[in-house]
Amino acid sequence: MGRYDKSKELYDRACRVLAGGVSSEFRKYGPPHPLFYQRAAGSRIVDVDGNESLDFTLSQGPLILGHSHPRVLAEVAQASQEGQLFAGQHLRELGLAEKLQRLIPCAELLRFSLSGSEADHAALRVARAVTGRPKFLRFEGHYHGWLDNVSLAISAPNPAALGSYEHPTPVRWTAGLPDHIEDQSLVLPWNNLELVEQTLASRHTEIAAIITEPVMCNNGCLEPVPGFLAGLRAACDRYGIALIFDEVITGFRLGLGGAQQYYGVIPDLAVFGKAMASGYPISVLAGKRQYMDKIADGTVIHAGTMNSGNPCIAAAQATLAVLETEAVHPRLFIYGQKLMQGLRQVSIEAGQPLLIQGPGPMFHAGFTPLEQVRDFRDTLSYDKPRYAKFVAGMQERGIRLIGRGLWYISAAHTTADIDQAIATAAEVLRTLN
Ligand SMILES: Cc1ncc(COP(=O)(O)O)c(C=O)c1O
Repeated sequence: MGRYDKSKELYDRACRVLAGGVSSEFRKYGPPHPLFYQRAAGSRIVDVDGNESLDFTLSQGPLILGHSHPRVLAEVAQASQEGQLFAGQHLRELGLAEKLQRLIPCAELLRFSLSGSEADHAALRVARAVTGRPKFLRFEGHYHGWLDNVSLAISAPNPAALGSYEHPTPVRWTAGLPDHIEDQSLVLPWNNLELVEQTLASRHTEIAAIITEPVMCNNGCLEPVPGFLAGLRAACDRYGIALIFDEVITGFRLGLGGAQQYYGVIPDLAVFGKAMASGYPISVLAGKRQYMDKIADGTVIHAGTMNSGNPCIAAAQATLAVLETEAVHPRLFIYGQKLMQGLRQVSIEAGQPLLIQGPGPMFHAGFTPLEQVRDFRDTLSYDKPRYAKFVAGMQERGIRLIGRGLWYISAAHTTADIDQAIATAAEVLRTLN
């Protein structure tokens, strides 16, 4: 009997009915193949073969309280009893919106959607409508969802396709995009304010918005260099451009007010999803009145049959209540930084060049000869096959990791979990020599 026999059998069956055997591109690559899971609680998830894993994927980030948090389950059950989707207004929705308005600095008005991709899409639409300009500026290596207008420039099949550092070539991430989609955006390297300033000086009349992840979570988990976000804010003010923070990962993870509160820079529009509702589908577009009024008065259409369903709103209410009342965030930082430090230590002992970067509640690990990864181009130095072996070795020993190198910490992780992860990493790193 193999360790994943049942999963393999089910995956083969799934490939005959689901395209690629999965329902999201990012689920295709788990080692040794996509696994089937049967239940999860706290920091642990159990697959259909009965293997229990300590989970640092948190299902790509949403499970900030860990799996199956009792308060979330109870509120969702209660809300589901009351009804599932009124497609009308309800008190829970109002209560959640009022709470978010209090918590998120830029949130003068809000709208709920189901996914981060949709809310990013809405943010760009609003920015175009308000400014009357056609394009947006985005950054190499950032991810803003899978929809058409942002499906450029997150990676390239070969480095030569990326063009020069100063003038990156927008790279199509997927087939099937409309013609001329490259004309909708300008791409620049992140964390280089000088290049942003230069570009805006000559092209600001074309640019509706600058959209950025406040931390480049999707490649290397790089933090903004001091002054970068504030510099974007000042440049946007100078030229009448909307500053959009894509807080789909940083939101509720760096703190209740997101990265905008953590770094003290307030965008015009911000998008939240993932950690907001412990795995239930809900996202929010929050922004300044000047922008959101366009949705309020119907100039910009934002809609969705399934938006703000009772269980999703209840899941968000419960998640935020726990985050607020149980002082989760200090723990996410302490445990995250302890784990980062432990991984650094065992990688030195094993003679493995494992670089660990990030604020703590999420961080990135990757093998590179560089002492610091500073931008997207540097992330190309990561030895991906070696990290894939590391992830497979961890998986074999009961630790579930994201293949791209991002680690997430939840309120359910304990110091014993952190110690277990470090000890297991030490063992796996030795096998890579
Ligand atoms: C920064 C960022 N923005 C947007 C998205 C898209 O969110 P969703 O997958 O909920 O559509 C993601 C997803 O990983 C993300 O990391």
